[in-house]
Amino acid sequence: MNWLVAAFALCVLAPTVHCASGAVIWCYHLASCKDTAWPLTIPAFCNGTRQSPINIISSSAKPNANLTAFTFNNYSSINGMKKIENTGKTVKVILDNGLGFSGGDLSEPYDSLQFHLHWGNGTAVPGSEHTLNGKRYPMELHIVSSKASHNKNTTLAVADSTGVAALGFFVEAMTGNETGQPESWRNLTSYLDSIKEGGTSAPISPGFSLDDLLTGVDRTKYYRYLGSLTTPTCNEAVVWTVFKDTIKVSKDLIELFSTVLHIGNSSSPLMTKVFRELQPEQPVTTQPASSSSTKTCYSLGLMALSLALGRS
Ligand SMILES: *[C@@H]1O[C@H](CO)[C@@H](O)[C@H](O)[C@H]1NC(C)=O
Ligand SMILES: *[C@@H]1O[C@H](CO)[C@@H](O)[C@H](O)[C@H]1NC(C)=O
Ligand SMILES: *[C@@H]1O[C@H](CO)[C@@H](O)[C@H](O)[C@H]1NC(C)=O
Ligand SMILES: *[C@@H]1O[C@H](CO)[C@@H](O)[C@H](O)[C@H]1NC(C)=O
Ligand SMILES: *[C@@H]1O[C@H](CO)[C@@H](O)[C@H](O)[C@H]1NC(C)=O
Ligand SMILES: *[C@@H]1O[C@H](CO)[C@@H](O)[C@H](O)[C@H]1NC(C)=O
Ligand SMILES: *[C@@H]1O[C@H](CO)[C@@H](O)[C@H](O)[C@H]1NC(C)=O
Ligand SMILES: *[C@@H]1O[C@H](CO)[C@@H](O)[C@H](O)[C@H]1NC(C)=O
Ligand SMILES: [Zn+2]
Repeated sequence: MNWLVAAFALCVLAPTVHCASGAVIWCYHLASCKDTAWPLTIPAFCNGTRQSPINIISSSAKPNANLTAFTFNNYSSINGMKKIENTGKTVKVILDNGLGFSGGDLSEPYDSLQFHLHWGNGTAVPGSEHTLNGKRYPMELHIVSSKASHNKNTTLAVADSTGVAALGFFVEAMTGNETGQPESWRNLTSYLDSIKEGGTSAPISPGFSLDDLLTGVDRTKYYRYLGSLTTPTCNEAVVWTVFKDTIKVSKDLIELFSTVLHIGNSSSPLMTKVFRELQPEQPVTTQPASSSSTKTCYSLGLMALSLALGRS
């Protein structure tokens, strides 16, 4: 039907690792092309030594006071999302020019290019890529951004060891019987019916913002480590930021991803378990224990001191 569908078919049929279009062949489920095969089939760079995702162990994260807040540009824009695509491997939303962020101990501002999701099979089979203290969440949202100085040239960004900044958000199921919540996610998932087949896309109408989708997350609390893209060619170019708070979404909306979207045409399998297995751990940093507890310790210390002085 369109170019993307043609490219998809060529990739599936081609006998070699590369498609006619030049893209690398990989998948999540066939033995020959799934993630455990990538180090062999796509050694550059999936066989590297700072690969993502990883299990984050909160008690091993080293405190670093330089991990300050981010300043987000245009994340509140309700015109920020242009297009939603079913790539056959994920759902990807292309962002408009002007979205990005600075701060957060990054060396320069980054332009946000797209976000996409990873999931398992409904809420029963969780499918986040990172895990926290061994816990895998139902879904994970990744906002992919590149150094502003690379002018959105992704070739340049992936060749730079800190060229890409990825923001990872865990998505957790609401525990009650809510449906269609939050509204921003109801808005986002309302587009899934229009992109059921791999290689299809739909324009997004103004109405919801990235801030709306990231509801409930304190974006000053996060883990930081240096890693890679979690899909081939796994370039080791990513400064990872994984937020501690989760986005809470009702179960019915989470279920839509694994029940509506196909990897190819409507007779192909549903898109499930679209995440890479864990890679060896990396050094992780995080904000020092909060300044309010420091203050508490300080005033308790003063109290102890004055008690001691009072005694003498
Ligand atoms: C991956 O790299 C390691 C050393 O870095 C090497 O021992 C191993 O053979 C490589 N595996 C593949 C599949 O290239
Ligand atoms: C924090 O930033 C300062 C100034 O750039 C630098 O000297 C220091 O090494 C950084 N600390 C850590 C833990 O990265
Ligand atoms: C927001 O985006 C518009 C273009 O869409 C741009 O003119 C403006 O500079 C952006 N704002 C910021 C703070 O980057
Ligand atoms: C996903 O879950 C559904 C419902 O439980 C099940 O029928 C289906 O076989 C599962 N798919 C995979 C790939 O595990
Ligand atoms: C990105 O940069 C590379 C290397 O400088 C260059 O060859 C390529 O044409 C650039 N791509 C775009 C889309 O500008
Ligand atoms: C949701 O649960 C609450 C209490 O558990 C109940 O009062 C309410 O009627 C339920 N709502 C729906 C739509 O099932
Ligand atoms: C959802 O979309 C509607 C229609 O575009 C819009 O009016 C509403 O503000 C959106 N709500 C949220 C929370 O994104
Ligand atoms: C779906 O794709 C398969 C494999 O390319 C093809 O054999 C089949 O006819 C297609 N089915 C439909 C309904 O288009
Ligand atoms: Zn991702």
